[in-house]
Amino acid sequence: MDPAHGPFVHQAWWWRSRHSIHEKQKNFEPIPYGFRMSAHTPSSNSAPYKLLRLYADASAITTTIDFVLPNLRLETIRAGKYWFSSLTTVTPITRNHCRIDVVAAWNIFRWLPFGPTLLKFVFGKFVEQDRRTMEKQAEGLKHNPHMMLIDDADRPAKWYFQLKQEYLESRRNAKEFRHPMSGPVTLKWRS
Ligand SMILES: [Fe+2]
Repeated sequence: MDPAHGPFVHQAWWWRSRHSIHEKQKNFEPIPYGFRMSAHTPSSNSAPYKLLRLYADASAITTTIDFVLPNLRLETIRAGKYWFSSLTTVTPITRNHCRIDVVAAWNIFRWLPFGPTLLKFVFGKFVEQDRRTMEKQAEGLKHNPHMMLIDDADRPAKWYFQLKQEYLESRRNAKEFRHPMSGPVTLKWRS
C-alpha cells in the first residue's frame, strides 16, 4: 500500500480524519534488499501518537519503517526508553490469495489490563481496512491491467517492483544484485 493511503483507508474518529490531510515529506534510504523510511516524527495528526508522547514523557518520538524483500514491513516506534515494534508480512497462499500477518512486541503500557487484546482489536480493524482496499484494487485490476503509479506517493511501490525484478534477474543470471536506489531520496505527498 502506498504511504499516503492512511486518511483515505483508515478513517476512525480516534485515529484521524480526512480533514487532517496535509503535505508531507519523508526521507528514504536504501538498505540491503529493501528500503527504509528514515527515522521521523510520526503523523502529528493521529491521536495515539500524541498520547504516546505524553505518556513516555519523551521530547522526541520517532518511527522507522523498513520494507524488505520478499514481503516484510518492519516498523519501530521509539519514545525515550519505550519502544513498540511490529512486523507485517503478506504471503501468497494460492495464485489468487495472500494472507496478511501482523506480529508486535512492545515495552510500553505493560500494566494495561487486556493490552494485547485491545491491540489485536485495533490492528485487526486496520488490517481489515487494508484487506478490503486490496480486494477492491484486485477487482479493478481485472478490468484494467495497467496499474497507475503516481509519483511521489507510489515511488516505494515502484522500488518494490524494481527490487523484485533485480533480485529475480540476479538469481536467474547468477550475477550480483544491483540495488535500484543509488542513495537517499526525499518524497512528498499529501496525506
Ligand atoms: Fe494501511
